[in-house]
Amino acid sequence: MLKKIKNIISKKKRHKIVSLTAYSKNIAKILDKYCDIILVGDSMANVLYGMPNTHQLKISNIIQHGISVRKGVKKSLMVVDMPKGTYTTPFQAKKNAKLIKKKTKCDAIKIESNNKNFKIIKEIIKAKIPVMGHIGFTPQFKKNFNVEGKNRYEIKKLIKEALLIEKAGAFSIVLECITPYTARTITKILKIPTIGIGSSSHCDGQVLVTDDILGLSGFYPKFIKRYVNLTTIIEKAVKKYSKDVKTKVFPNNKNFLYGK
Ligand code: KIV
Repeated sequence: MLKKIKNIISKKKRHKIVSLTAYSKNIAKILDKYCDIILVGDSMANVLYGMPNTHQLKISNIIQHGISVRKGVKKSLMVVDMPKGTYTTPFQAKKNAKLIKKKTKCDAIKIESNNKNFKIIKEIIKAKIPVMGHIGFTPQFKKNFNVEGKNRYEIKKLIKEALLIEKAGAFSIVLECITPYTARTITKILKIPTIGIGSSSHCDGQVLVTDDILGLSGFYPKFIKRYVNLTTIIEKAVKKYSKDVKTKVFPNNKNFLYGK
């Protein structure tokens, strides 16, 4: 098993796992110092490409951004999302996971669970590619946003799904928008770490979309904490640049590359 994967698993019950998304080298380079896991998430469909959901994202998109992120990641575990429709059969999943790994040189891939694709996880792992699972609100398979794990039926179903993903060989699992009680129960039962998003502090780690915490996406549901408003900061800088160009303050003599 990859040393970096072992290291993530060993953090369970000892240290909280820190994870954020990155779609480019420059952001990945900043995150690398502070994150255990950097996720090239298919959230780039909404955040970067302005698509209404993640369904139209192509494997070429995720590979292109994965190649860029790889250049900024040295220390963290780099995980790349498999886009919708790229892992519908074990054969196709293995082929595409191998392609993503070969092109991006990622450490692992993440696939969303549809409560059926356990064999697909097994096949990818057989090809020596570590897999991160993803349960709860899985945007590739669910149309409407819903907090999951609210009643006994849902709790049982989620626990079973998480256990089957662990049994299939996944090294960790994202719990998205699951009730605190259910997230705590799953985290207690599983041997592999749980990474929560909107699923309380009971998880072994947390993941968020970087553009959301930086105030760039305009998406601020209750489970997100915005640490800075980069939109305002960038706007101020761009406004100043625009004024400087119009008033001929920029460029000045100091900016000339040659002569006057
Ligand atoms: O695509 C993504 O960014 C994700 C996280 C929200 C977990 O899957």
